[in-house]
Amino acid sequence: MKLTEYAWMLDDPVRIGAYKRAIFQTVKPGDVVIEMGAGLGTYSFFACQAGASRVYAIEDSVAGALEELARRQGFGERLRVVRGNSLGAALPERADWVIFEDFNSAFLGGGLASVVRDAAERFLAPGGGWIPSAAEVWAALVEVPESWGSLARWRREAGHLEGLDYGPLSGWVLNSGHKGRCAPESLMSAPRLLRRFRLGDPGESYDLSGAWEDPARRAGNVHAICAWFRLELAEGVWLDNAPGADETVYEQEIFTLPEALPAEAGGALRWSLQCIPEREGEQMWWKWGAEAGGKKFEGTTFAGFPLKLEALADRSAEKVPRPGRRQEILRFVLDCADGKLSQGGIAEKVRAAFPEEFPSERKALRYVADVFRS
Ligand SMILES: C[S@@+](CC[C@H](N)C(=O)[O-])C[C@H]1O[C@@H](n2cnc3c(N)ncnc32)[C@H](O)[C@@H]1O
Repeated sequence: MKLTEYAWMLDDPVRIGAYKRAIFQTVKPGDVVIEMGAGLGTYSFFACQAGASRVYAIEDSVAGALEELARRQGFGERLRVVRGNSLGAALPERADWVIFEDFNSAFLGGGLASVVRDAAERFLAPGGGWIPSAAEVWAALVEVPESWGSLARWRREAGHLEGLDYGPLSGWVLNSGHKGRCAPESLMSAPRLLRRFRLGDPGESYDLSGAWEDPARRAGNVHAICAWFRLELAEGVWLDNAPGADETVYEQEIFTLPEALPAEAGGALRWSLQCIPEREGEQMWWKWGAEAGGKKFEGTTFAGFPLKLEALADRSAEKVPRPGRRQEILRFVLDCADGKLSQGGIAEKVRAAFPEEFPSERKALRYVADVFRS
């Protein structure tokens, strides 16, 4: 994410107001708090304001900006910025509260499962709690002609963009989850609670799978499944990105069908949604489908990008790796690091040994610095 996106997230009083209420309701003077993925630190600052004796703000991407902002708040030693990913972080104490906010618009995104499980095991004190403590995933079938049409147009217009063929693009983009805003009137079926997750529960699986049947609320075309979350941040404090709720940066998650599915008022709409969670940082997958009047359409994020068999083979256990030029350079650099030679010294040596790869001093130093980055 770019800093402009963080600034844009700060401009969301619904999101920030809900977390602030939850933090002031739960964090008591003297508590220890860990925020995983603190971003620009707003929630960590709230925890300090609520009286926490120590707040560890862990951040990966924008740690530099966070450090500068943290310095300006005047919380002194009570607030510590921890650079890097929480999975690699070692903290000197356990926390009464873990704050987290790195969700996609349907809650289940990115490395959620491994990051939350790791924090539950290593960061939380016995009896400690999560903000949010629970999350619900909701969904409904929707009629969204504009957003669906803009994705499907490449199929219709293949060969019509400057005479170039973009035909396969529709297949890829329609098989992806999209962030967007669905109006309440776009709902073709009643909202359904699909699953409730408890963040502190060590046995929580972070998967989702189900098939449902709902009557169409009116005649129309089903273009997609719209999913959203309700986060229980603290008792009685919810953050909700449902269609029609107060607008937040989260909007909703839209899973488009390859074709528009005609529906009659009151007719049976059968639909399914499945999320296969990530394991140990691997990709997570979504699958969905909808059926009405004898027609059935499906989508999966697995088909959302052109898959190269060579790329899969590259990761197979059967592959016998042979070191190439890249590995040779890396080995050379590692061998140079004797605990005495500086990065500049190593860069000079690697440049002399591999002049074609490192035509400038700057390029060699950047490479060496990247290898030894902490
Ligand atoms: C959606 S942003 C929200 C940040 C924050 N609540 C705010 O309002 O600025 C999520 C942040 O979490 C960070 N992040 C996600 N997972 C992380 C992890 N496991 N360790 C450290 N940072 C993480 C990302 O770099 C990103 O800055």
